[in-house]
Amino acid sequence: MEVKVFKDYDELSQQAADEVINLVKQKNDAVICFASGNTPLGTCQWIVKKAMTEKIDFSKCSFIGLDEWVGISPDNSGSCRFFFYENLFKPLQMADAQIFLFDALATDLNNECRKMDNVVAEKRGIDLMIVGIGINGHIGFNEPGVDPNLLSYAIDLHESTKAVGQKYFTGATELAQGITLGLDHLMNSKKVILMANGKSKSEVIKKAIKESVTEEMPASIMQKHKNGFVFIDEEAASLL
Ligand code: PGA
Repeated sequence: MEVKVFKDYDELSQQAADEVINLVKQKNDAVICFASGNTPLGTCQWIVKKAMTEKIDFSKCSFIGLDEWVGISPDNSGSCRFFFYENLFKPLQMADAQIFLFDALATDLNNECRKMDNVVAEKRGIDLMIVGIGINGHIGFNEPGVDPNLLSYAIDLHESTKAVGQKYFTGATELAQGITLGLDHLMNSKKVILMANGKSKSEVIKKAIKESVTEEMPASIMQKHKNGFVFIDEEAASLL
């Protein structure tokens, strides 16, 4: 694992966007897994900007969504699906056949998970995963204490995830479960970039990358990834 500290959120976002753009230039059928949320928003915006100016062809890429709030409708602006379509898929004019997202309304969540695992297997793995980190150390919905050997699964969310998650929704929203790629997918991805910005992430970043690797701090597994990078701004790095 390598840690890269950038001046601010914009520089961090540009660098992460460059990783995606450079990958697609080298491998036009790249398989990219992305997180939604506040952290990767700037990265999405820079990817779109750079794709336009540099005329990058995304039409052969595959995009996998890291996670989703179970039971939240796709037209809810707080859903991960909504985020991806607004910030990445529509601006890049991606076709539905390139997009692989969990169905939050699926009645059989286990089947939904196996479908996602099959997508990853059929595509021979994920080339690049870009993820954020929660203040409780989660990646996607891999909450503290979770088995790091899991592929995709549904999970009861921690109270902090339900509380912090309210920020994505326009009104109070009941959040109970999440569906997510497990940490086994992360460890098998050819490259992973964990991003964090701002003072509010400084404490968890310190725990995740400076302290021991433990299931209680899911993001600490990044320390074991052979091609893992932590991209942070100076504020998130302030306790290192
Ligand atoms: P954020 O979420 O990017 O909105 O801070 C990170 C997370 O909880 O995984």
